[in-house]
Amino acid sequence: MMVGGPRTEQEKISDVTALSIEFTKSGVRRVRLSGTLLCMPAARAIHNLALVGFMGCGKSTVGRQVAIDLGFQFVDTDTLIEERAGIPIPEIFETEGEAAFRRLECEVLAELAGRQELVIATGGGAIVNPDNLASLKSHALVVCLWANAEAIHERTRHQTHRPLLQTEDPLGTIQRMLEERAPVYKQADVMVNTELRPQREVVAQVRHQFDESKGGGTASSAS
Ligand code: S3P
Repeated sequence: MMVGGPRTEQEKISDVTALSIEFTKSGVRRVRLSGTLLCMPAARAIHNLALVGFMGCGKSTVGRQVAIDLGFQFVDTDTLIEERAGIPIPEIFETEGEAAFRRLECEVLAELAGRQELVIATGGGAIVNPDNLASLKSHALVVCLWANAEAIHERTRHQTHRPLLQTEDPLGTIQRMLEERAPVYKQADVMVNTELRPQREVVAQVRHQFDESKGGGTASSAS
């Protein structure tokens, strides 16, 4: 469906509803993403499930439900950071600055690497630091929940707990940040589009992809 010239990365991602993982005899795990073939080594140890993606894509809500389904513990890195700092995230940003928040985020993520049977909801900026993505990939299947800027704006416009979205033009901010971060989010193992889908379907999709990564099912490309 190439109408009007080449599609932007963001448009391509918006089309992604799911991705399939296949196991081949040559020891390579092949992953299909909207016609694109990605590869990851079969030796990946997947003990946990990590949800990444932009603010307002439902990482915590979906993660909590998937954790119940899997019988795993649910952890939210933002909550762990707040517990460690003893103050809420907006206050960390205000008093210590974003860099201090990112240091805590990095610490918390590194500590999770030694744990098992976790569903981890990460903050939307966590994997912008490539060390954090590498750390997550060393123990978890990394699933990115995706939505377009307008949908994210709609979901977040009445919320005030995200310092980075407290701007004069939240939609413009979301558009710019989403475009900047899109190449990072695309490095997740799996992209799941959350637009116009009931939450239970997103939960089922994430759970399915996790089962597949553990070799628990046959490859598919459900949407
Ligand atoms: C951030 C996302 C937030 C939180 C912090 C920064 C980001 O988490 O970590 O406000 O940089 O995208 P959620 O994605 O859970 O809102």
